[in-house]
Amino acid sequence: MASLGVNIDHIANVRQARLTVEPDPVTMALLAELGGADGITIHLREDRRHINDRDLKLLRETVRSRLNLEMAATPEMVEIALKTKPDMVTLVPERREEITTEGGLAVTANEKYLKSIIHQIHQSSIPVSLFIDPIAEQLEASWRIGARWVELHTGNYAEASWDDQPLELARIQEATFRARSKGLRVNAGHGLTYNNVEAIASIEGIEELNIGHTIIARALAIGLRDAVKEMKELVKNPRKETLFGASQKN
Ligand code: PXP
Repeated sequence: MASLGVNIDHIANVRQARLTVEPDPVTMALLAELGGADGITIHLREDRRHINDRDLKLLRETVRSRLNLEMAATPEMVEIALKTKPDMVTLVPERREEITTEGGLAVTANEKYLKSIIHQIHQSSIPVSLFIDPIAEQLEASWRIGARWVELHTGNYAEASWDDQPLELARIQEATFRARSKGLRVNAGHGLTYNNVEAIASIEGIEELNIGHTIIARALAIGLRDAVKEMKELVKNPRKETLFGASQKN
């Protein structure tokens, strides 16, 4: 059964739209935990467009589940991670002009550099995960350079047409199997919703799903605690065969 990491960047997005103090991601993290979140995920961006240094500091002090820090592989971010000691660092590609993370890390093209970054973070006993596309070469390279966790990018699956979704799902299944047989531990996320999460949550070997946008959207309608609770139930107890046929609760 996969656990649920709730990405709360969007709460900070709303705050930053007015450059004010509310809504506060720190308070909301507590509500997410009360709803059943097994972890809280934040992305501290170079431009601090949503989560900022104050959020990171306070969340480190207050999160009682696990704090997963998404960040670019830059010297500034490594220094912050070593100082703050999150429970996990997830390295993601970052471009200023993107609205959200657009693709997985190009591990194969940056093996030497990423290896040294992973090594530095591992020396502080912080596990490092690499956000990668579900592609064999990226998995192999992740393992080679010392990563012991990957987060598989589910964006293509989430955005695929009805016709293409089975293929994208199969890619994630195969990548999970391949990663696990190498010894890599597997998380997944990006673009997952209340409608498409169950097929991914049913994949054996995925340990955690990181989900943000859809939960915050739902929270606007029904409140954060219940929005997390509903998602937790789907991740914990996905209906089998949800995507391509009649569905049955386990
Ligand atoms: N995983 C990673 C690496 C991400 O960058 C994001 C988005 O910040 C997510 C998961 C969550 O994606 P979404 O907000 O689409 O659920």
